[in-house]
Amino acid sequence: MLSQIEQLRIDALKNIKEARDISSLDLIWRQYLGRQNGELTKVLRGLKDLPANEKSKVGSLANRTKIEIEEKIKQKRQQLKSIINHESSSINLDLTLPGKKTELGHLHPLTQGKQMVADIFSSMGFEILEGPELETDYYNFEALNIPEGHPARDMWDTFFVKSKIKNQKSKLLLRTHTSPMQVRVMEKRKPPLRVCVIGKCFRHEATDASHEHTLYQVEGFAVDKEISVANLIYTLKTFLNALFKTNVKIRLRPSYFPFTEPSFEVDFACLNCGGKARPPGLRPGEVGRGCPVCSQTGWVEILGSGMIHPEVFKHAGYAKGKYTGFAFGIGLDRLIIMKHKIDDIRWLHSGDLRFIRQF
Ligand code: PHE
Repeated sequence: MLSQIEQLRIDALKNIKEARDISSLDLIWRQYLGRQNGELTKVLRGLKDLPANEKSKVGSLANRTKIEIEEKIKQKRQQLKSIINHESSSINLDLTLPGKKTELGHLHPLTQGKQMVADIFSSMGFEILEGPELETDYYNFEALNIPEGHPARDMWDTFFVKSKIKNQKSKLLLRTHTSPMQVRVMEKRKPPLRVCVIGKCFRHEATDASHEHTLYQVEGFAVDKEISVANLIYTLKTFLNALFKTNVKIRLRPSYFPFTEPSFEVDFACLNCGGKARPPGLRPGEVGRGCPVCSQTGWVEILGSGMIHPEVFKHAGYAKGKYTGFAFGIGLDRLIIMKHKIDDIRWLHSGDLRFIRQF
């Protein structure tokens, strides 16, 4: 019995010495001292069956062995712990290594564009608003002088939204432009107003290199006594010059929007070819020297605008003839692809990191 305990002791101490980590130490503890099946525990448990003269000898040896094994495990545990601490604090930390580069994200080109536009308009005294993307038929069309069944509704291919709200007065839709904010703001406030709305709009149409179903618009409008077309032109020129950091040439062409009268389409001289893509003397149908950005015309169409229609003021609750105002709506995505010379508008919403990382 005594030699069995001695052998047990020798094995245990050898195992402890060879243990390389804390979990194997735990195993050793269980193997010898475990409450249920520990080898030494079993010896101690069997003491009661031994004859009295052996009992004290075997008992004291077993107890001493138990204490010794416990003590050795404790020491070894300390030793292993200090090695781990040492490794993590000094061996693994080499301050001279170049270090892992943390990749920093950045704002999406569209967000950068939104911020840039907002900065320019606020510097001109416009307040920046957003407005709801889920809009009612009333604000998107009716209040803008486009009643149900009016052919001008065809200008905006619309996503209508089914509503579960009972007694919903006006149909719901995804706003097709930011113009509904004109009436929303005017209903609540009196002029003078200088407002810039930057927000997402949606069109139910096929996509191609210059059309997307989801786009950002920048709506600007100013309402006061004696606001004129000259104020509109000045505002647009100041904005474009600041955005493109150059002197941008613009031209106005007569156009039609139900909520402005008169209405203008505004083009600016192509920044890519300096507006010279179409040499003078070319007859209609003849192709100029060619700049694909302006489709060989020298001009790029960027926005619709005009003087706010009296019907719109009426919906806003303003007295007839009391105020005048201008309004314009710019396609932000188009401006951005122009600024960065991006060849396809669909890149902007693609989420493709190879594209986004370039900005
Ligand atoms: N909302 C018009 C569109 O989406 C643009 C526009 C805005 C025209 C303001 C005139 C005045 O096409």
